[in-house]
Order: sequence, then C-alpha cells, then structure tokens
Amino acid sequence: MNRNFPQFRRAVALIMLVVLATGCTSLYDRNKPIVALDVPSLRDIYADYFDVGVAVSLAGWSPQTFANHQDLIEWHFNSLTAENEMKPDALQPREGAFSFSTADKMVDYAVDNNLKVRGHTLVWHNQTPAWFFRDEAGDLIHEKPKEAITEADRELVKRRLEEHIEQVMTHYAGKVYAWDVVNEAVSDHYTTTHRPDSPWYIILGEDFMRIAFTKAHEVDPEAKLFYNDYNPEMYYKRGRTIDMLKSLLDEGVPIHGIGIQGHWSANGLNVREIEESIRMYAELGLEIHITELDVGRKGATEAQQAEAYRQLFRMFKRNSDVITSVTFWGTTDDVSWRRDENPLLFDAKKQPKPAFWAIVDTEKPWQQNRDEYLRR
Ligand code: G3I
Repeated sequence: MNRNFPQFRRAVALIMLVVLATGCTSLYDRNKPIVALDVPSLRDIYADYFDVGVAVSLAGWSPQTFANHQDLIEWHFNSLTAENEMKPDALQPREGAFSFSTADKMVDYAVDNNLKVRGHTLVWHNQTPAWFFRDEAGDLIHEKPKEAITEADRELVKRRLEEHIEQVMTHYAGKVYAWDVVNEAVSDHYTTTHRPDSPWYIILGEDFMRIAFTKAHEVDPEAKLFYNDYNPEMYYKRGRTIDMLKSLLDEGVPIHGIGIQGHWSANGLNVREIEESIRMYAELGLEIHITELDVGRKGATEAQQAEAYRQLFRMFKRNSDVITSVTFWGTTDDVSWRRDENPLLFDAKKQPKPAFWAIVDTEKPWQQNRDEYLRR
C-alpha cells in the first residue's frame, strides 16, 4: 500500500479539528432562517384543546398577504376569519347589490384546505354603508332628532338588517360554522349599556340585538351565533355586557357564545381578570371564542411579549372546557392592523418570534422550546 503519509496525516488532523470544533461550539445556528413549515404546527399542538384560527385579508393595502401566507395558514391553523371581506361594506356596498366574490375566494380556499370559517361580522356600527340607515327621502335616520324617527323608518331599517342576514347567511350556509352576529354593541361608558353612537341602537333601540340573533338562527339553525366585542373581559365593561347578554338569554334569544376579541398588550396584561371573566361568561351557558388575538409589544421586550403569550395560552388550556377556538388577528407583524406594536407570532419574514416558541410548550421557557427544535 503506497500511502502519502504527510498528506494522510494532514487530512486526519483536519477531520479531527472539524469534529472537535463542532463538538465544542453550538451544533445549530440560531440566526439561520427557519422554514415556516418545519417548526411545530400550532393546530397540532392545540388539537386536544381548541381550534387555532387566523384572520387574513384580501383587501386594502396588503392584498397579496393571502396568497403569500398560505404556507403559514395551512401549517399552523385550522380556522379562518376574513379580516374585512365579510363585513357589510364588503358584502353589500349598495342596497341589494351583494358582492360575494372576494369573500368566496377565501371561503372556498378554507373549505378546500379543511379550515373552518368564522363569519365576521353581520351587524356592526362600523364598516357598514350609510344606505342601511337612510330613509325614503335619502336622509340619515340616526341623525334626525329622536322624536322625528318614525315607525316607517324603523321598519325600513329592520327590513334591511334582516335582509342582509338572510342573504349572507344563506349564501354561506354549510360553509361558515360560526358567525359574529353582532359586533361591539356595548358602551365603554358606565352610564349606558349600549354604545350610544351605533345607528342600529339609535334607530331600533335594544331590539336590534334580538332582531339580529333571532333572524340569524332562523336562516341557519346549524350556525353557532356569537356576540363579539373588545374588552368584555375587563372589569369596566364586563358587568354591562353580562347584564345585556343575560337578559337576552333569559328571553330565549339564540346566542350561543361570546367572542372575546383579545387585542391585548404585553405590558400590564391581567390574565387573572381575563380568566375570571371567561368563567363568568361560561356560567351564562356561553361558549367562548377568542376571536382577534394580538398582544402588542409597546413598552415591552420580545421576551416579555413571549411570556405574556405563554401565560395566556396556559390559561386558555386550563379553560378549554369552554374555550373552543382561539383566532389570531393576522399572520405576520407587518400586515397587522397594529403593526407599529408587532403583536403577532411571526415577523415580516415569516420567522417565528419568541412569542411563537413560548406557546409551543407553555410549561417551558421559550428559549428551551426553540433550542430543542434547533437541536433536532
Ligand atoms: O379598502 C381600502 C383601500 O381601498 C384603501 O386603499 C386603503 C387605504 O387606507 O384603505 C382600505 O380600507 C382599509 C381596510 O382596513 C382594508 O385594509 C381601511 O382604511 C381600514 O380602516 C380597515 O381597517 C380594518 C378595521 O377593522 C376597520 O374597522 C382593519 O384592517 C381590521 O383589522 C379591523 O378589524 C377590527 C375588527 O373587525 C373588529 N374588532 C376590532 C378590529 C381592529 O380594529
């Protein structure tokens, strides 16, 4: 055997050096981009607890998001909400002129990919065209003095409300399993239960809730019907919300659940208060959906945001007897309505943030979850 010994020794030394170096330093690179589909799947992690949903948009300033984020959507989520496309201004911009095509794209995509769909939203004071509230002469009814609002005005608005629900829910029957029937009806001020600036309330009074839920149940008896709001878990708004829902439920109005939006902040998050409220709503017999989760980072570090998410998901799991769905209000920070607060789990490059790793296993620190993944 004719071996070139000096060369052979050099090669062996080099190999040993590489082996030693990799053994002494890290086996993995924390800065290496992570492939979105390679990380643990949230919908699998939470399969025994609740659905994990996400809101996406085809409208506005970032219409490409829906196409670009389908990898994230399909890997991590099993429920979809249209961020804007099912609101009244999108679905019925002019009276009788229903425009379903954009929302249909999202719903068809969801059905094709085994994602449930939450419908958002049928009745809201916002993103609702003015025509809903005009009288026969074209004047805005809710801007008239109270005593000038006639029975005919009320009938007209009630008819439009019911017609909208009828057309939209019929169109999506069998595809949309849960609806935010009424969104944000409760006042932020302790002196009134209903928010006083809602045209629905000004024109129809408290009755608009009854009308909406009754009609929704009649149109699609299979659909789960939710009342959805921001801050119903907070002490300042909880009493009024509970009183309103309780009196409607006592009358037999078909409300099946409450949507707690969950636009929270890492700084000052009160998980105990949220949990207490969840139990109080559950005592009314309501199912709980967290419908628009994002946890803003203003004044907090990434690690503090991760800890806030960890605490929240620990609590959600503890209450998974009543929480059946948790939906994030967006995929990546850059397309969030709160993008200046980076409130979501993935950054603009679709890279999982500490907040993501924190909820992979809520019993461990986020770094450990990430490092265990990187070491595989
Ligand atoms: O569609 C127009 C587009 O044509 C125009 O070029 C663009 C310019 O700004 O505006 C587009 O509309 C925007 C729309 O989002 C679609 O992107 C509106 O200005 C903007 O106001 C609207 O914001 C939405 C907001 O609801 C409006 O109320 C947010 O995306 C959406 O995340 C947010 O969602 C609400 C929930 O429905 C209810 N709970 C609170 C939550 C956050 O506000």
